[in-house]
Amino acid sequence: MQQLIVKRRSLNKEINLQLQQNKELQARMAKLQTLANLGTISAIVAHEINNILMPLGNYAQVALNNPQDSQLTQKALQKTVHNSARAAEILESILAIVNGEAVEKRICRLKQLVEEVFSCIGRDFEKDKIKVRMEISDGLDILAVPVQLQQVLMNLILNAREAMMPAGGTLLINAKRQDSTVVIEVSDTGCGIEPRDMKKIFEPFFSTKTPQSPAGRIGAGLGLVFCKEIVNSHNGTIEVQSKPGTGTKFIITLPDGENP
Ligand SMILES: Nc1ncnc2c1ncn2[C@@H]1O[C@H](COP(=O)(O)OP(=O)(O)O)[C@@H](O)[C@H]1O
Ligand SMILES: [Mg+2]
Repeated sequence: MQQLIVKRRSLNKEINLQLQQNKELQARMAKLQTLANLGTISAIVAHEINNILMPLGNYAQVALNNPQDSQLTQKALQKTVHNSARAAEILESILAIVNGEAVEKRICRLKQLVEEVFSCIGRDFEKDKIKVRMEISDGLDILAVPVQLQQVLMNLILNAREAMMPAGGTLLINAKRQDSTVVIEVSDTGCGIEPRDMKKIFEPFFSTKTPQSPAGRIGAGLGLVFCKEIVNSHNGTIEVQSKPGTGTKFIITLPDGENP
C-alpha cells in the first residue's frame, strides 16, 4: 500500500513536470509562429511596394527622357507623386493589418477604385494584347477600406495579366449587387490553373512562376494570401474557378455597403 502511494506521488510529480514543459513549449511555439508571420508579412510588404515602385520608376524615366515636352513631364511627375503617396498609404494599411488595428471602412464607389488601380499599374494593357472590359455600374457603392480593396484588385489584375502572356486575351472585371452582397468578379482568358494546384494557390509562398514563365520572373506566392487576408477582414469570401487552357475567374463576395 505504502509503495503504491509513493508510486502515485512520483507519477503525479512527473505529470506536473510534463504539463509545465508542455506550457513552455506552447509559449515557444507561439513566439516562433509570430516570427514566421513576421517573415511572411515583410515579404508581402516588399511584394506590394514593388508593385507600386515599378510603374513609379517608369514614370520618372519618362520625365527624364522628355525634359523638353513639358506637358508629358508634368503628367509623369503627377503620376510619380500619386504613386509614391499610394506606396505610403499601402505601408500604413499593411502595418494596420499586422498590428490588428481596426481601420475605418467607408462607403466607396467601386468603379472609381478600379479605375485608380489601373492608373496606378500604369501599364497599357493593349501593349500586351489584352482587352480590358469593365462592367460596373456607376453608382455601385461598397463598404470597404479603399486602399485594401485596391490591393486585392491590383493583385488579381496583375495575376490575370501574367496568365494571359504572351498571347494576350480579355480581362473582364464585373460587379453587381446580389441579395445583400456585392459580387466582384475578375476573369481572364489566360493559362488557367491545374486542378492539383487549386487548393494550394492561397498558401503562402506557393507560386508556379519561374524565370522561364511568360512573365519572366519568380513568383513570391504572396499575392493571393494577402487578398484572402484582406477579404476575410471585410467579412467577405474569395473563391476561384478555373479551367486549364481556358481561363480563370476570381469571385469576391462582400457584404453590401448600402445595407451593412
Ligand atoms: N489568373 C490566374 N491565372 C492562372 N493562374 C493563377 C492566376 N492567379 C493566380 N494563379 C496561380 O496562383 C499562384 C499564386 O498566385 P500569387 O499568390 O499571386 O503568387 P505569384 O503571382 O507571386 O505566383 C500563381 O503562381 C499561379 O500559379
Ligand atoms: Mg501574384
